Amino acid sequence: MKLEGMKIGLAFTGSFCTFDKIETEVKSLVEKGGDIYPIFSTNTQFTNSRFGDTGEYMKRISDITGHEPILSLEEAEPIGPKGYLDILLIAPCTGNTLAKLANGITDSPVLMAAKAHLRNSKPLVISLSTNDALGINFKNVGELFNVKNIYFVPFGQDDPVKKPNSMIAHTHLIADTLELALEGKQIQPVIL
Ligand SMILES: Cc1cc2nc3c(=O)[nH]c(=O)nc-3n(C[C@H](O)[C@H](O)[C@H](O)COP(=O)(O)O)c2cc1C
Repeated sequence: MKLEGMKIGLAFTGSFCTFDKIETEVKSLVEKGGDIYPIFSTNTQFTNSRFGDTGEYMKRISDITGHEPILSLEEAEPIGPKGYLDILLIAPCTGNTLAKLANGITDSPVLMAAKAHLRNSKPLVISLSTNDALGINFKNVGELFNVKNIYFVPFGQDDPVKKPNSMIAHTHLIADTLELALEGKQIQPVIL
C-alpha cells in the first residue's frame, strides 16, 4: 500500500546517534506524500548530547512535517479515541522503550501513542537501535515479534566486534516496511 495520503505517527526515542538518519527518512516519507505526526519521548525532549541540541532537532522535524510535535501523555492519548493515524512508527526505538512496550508500561508520550494506536488494531512499526538488543533486551525483541499488529524494520548487528550485543535497523527500509505493514505483512528478510 502506497504512503501517499497516509497519516503516519513518527515517535522518536533517545537513540541520539540515529537522529540524523531518521531525519533523512522523514524527508523521504514526506516526499512520498506521507502526512507525518511527530511524537517525542520525554527523555528525548530534555536530553542534549554530543549529537546535537534536541530542541533544534524537534524544530527541524516540525518544519519538515508541518505538524507541531506531540510532547505529553495528554497530547498522545487522543490517538486512541480519535483513531487518526493509519500507522505508527517508533524510530529510533531505544532498548528502554522496547522493554517498556513489551511489558505494558505506558509512561512516555511515545508509549502512550503506541498503546492508544494498538487499541485500534492498526500497525505499529519498530525501527530498533540499541546496544543491548542481543543482551538483556533480546527477550523483549522476541516478545514483540509475536505481538499482533507489530512489525520490525529489518535489522542486524552494526559492530559485532566492538559491540557484540548491538543491533540497529536498516533505516533506508523504513518506507518499504511501512508499505507492507499497512497490508498486514512483515517485510522479509527481517534479519539482515
Ligand atoms: C548520547 C546518548 C546516546 C544514547 N544512545 C542510545 C541508543 O542508541 N540506544 C538506546 O537504546 N539508548 C540510547 N541512549 C540511552 C537512552 O537515551 C535512555 O535509555 C533513555 O532513558 C531512553 O528513553 P526513551 O526510550 O523514553 O527515549 C543514549 C543516551 C545518550 C545520552
